Amino acid sequence: MNYHVKDISLAQEGKKKIDWAEAHMPVLVALRHKYEDEKPLKGIKIAGCLHVTKETGVLARVLQSVGAELAWCGCNPLSTQDDVAASLATDEHISVFARRGVSTREYYDDIRSVMAIEPNITIDDGADLTIEMHKDMMAKSVIYGGTEETTTGVVRLRALQTAGKLKYPIIAVNDAETKHDFDNVYGTGQSALDGIIRATNILLAGKNVIVAGYGHVGKGIAKRAAGMGCNVTVTEVDPIAALKAKLDGFSVSQMLSASATGDVFITTTGCKGVISEEEIVRMKDGAILANAGHFNVEISIPAIEAQSTNSTRINEHTVQYKLKTGSRIYLIAEGRLVNLAAAEGHPSEVMDMSFANQFLSVMKLAESKGSMKPLVYNVEISQDREIALAKLESMRIQIDNLTDEQRLYLEGFSEGT
Ligand code: ADE
Repeated sequence: MNYHVKDISLAQEGKKKIDWAEAHMPVLVALRHKYEDEKPLKGIKIAGCLHVTKETGVLARVLQSVGAELAWCGCNPLSTQDDVAASLATDEHISVFARRGVSTREYYDDIRSVMAIEPNITIDDGADLTIEMHKDMMAKSVIYGGTEETTTGVVRLRALQTAGKLKYPIIAVNDAETKHDFDNVYGTGQSALDGIIRATNILLAGKNVIVAGYGHVGKGIAKRAAGMGCNVTVTEVDPIAALKAKLDGFSVSQMLSASATGDVFITTTGCKGVISEEEIVRMKDGAILANAGHFNVEISIPAIEAQSTNSTRINEHTVQYKLKTGSRIYLIAEGRLVNLAAAEGHPSEVMDMSFANQFLSVMKLAESKGSMKPLVYNVEISQDREIALAKLESMRIQIDNLTDEQRLYLEGFSEGT
């Protein structure tokens, strides 16, 4: 569904939000200043499939100001901020196909609408656009490559590569250190709890919080929850990650035993069926369930429905299920990404680095003009360092430099003491 803007005041609200984000994204803004006269993306068509938030609004503005032609859709049915979409459509004249609360059919229609510009570059979060591009529309595009923002998307695209079916190069933005070590950890750590608080306003202090998965996202959430006074238990399938969680000071147990004690459950694994019927029937009265992984498959909603006698929406974000066991459990945001569906996503300061990585990766693909092989590429360390230094500079933090003597010491092997 194209974005028909009827409500100018919605767009005005969105513009103010994007302006706010822009004021907190100095690295991305510095990149715009560096390239806007030269317009290196002139003539390049970009199809974007990222959560339509105020931070994405800044990225879209910056890409457009350096010459790109854009069409944009959301990458999750519940994460679009309609005021931001309205501002991008009205103030920036970008083709936006996104609205909060679209059906699955509308969601895929929106993806196909951005594909209709016949993009040279795709920007994706979760790989839905890239996979659709692989199905048929690609034939029409002169495609140079794409970028992928998130762990789940990179996993899917590496699987496509392993199957020998990846048709164009992808830069795994997620795998840059200045992305996943900050966005996934501190961004989700804060915004997932923000979503749970906005949806329920519970007091977190003293609660038993069960975090499923101890990757970057799980780590961030566990740390922030502990900081707010929660008793955190981590569940894992990976022995190394489980051990790290234990030595970081958290309890570690199986989901089945945690299910009887948890007040709040937060899934972060990227896998399906993490909370299933077996666990649901054990849950305490009042248990709250939220997901911070990319897709709504981690908490089994069919299992909740099978075990419940009725359901009631208690507010915009939360549905109460009355279980046959007599307990009431509360599902936030239909099991979709809680930080984006019930809150505003990661703060601008952290998206600054993620989207600086997106911008520089798009520039690299544009420069390649299609000469890169169809593989999944990591961001180069020089890009990571450039972004980290720019971020530090924006925070007025200076770091030390190695002396020549120190560099020679580190590069050599003969001098020990
Ligand atoms: N993913 C997580 N938080 C986000 C945000 N604020 N904008 C775009 N994508 C996001």
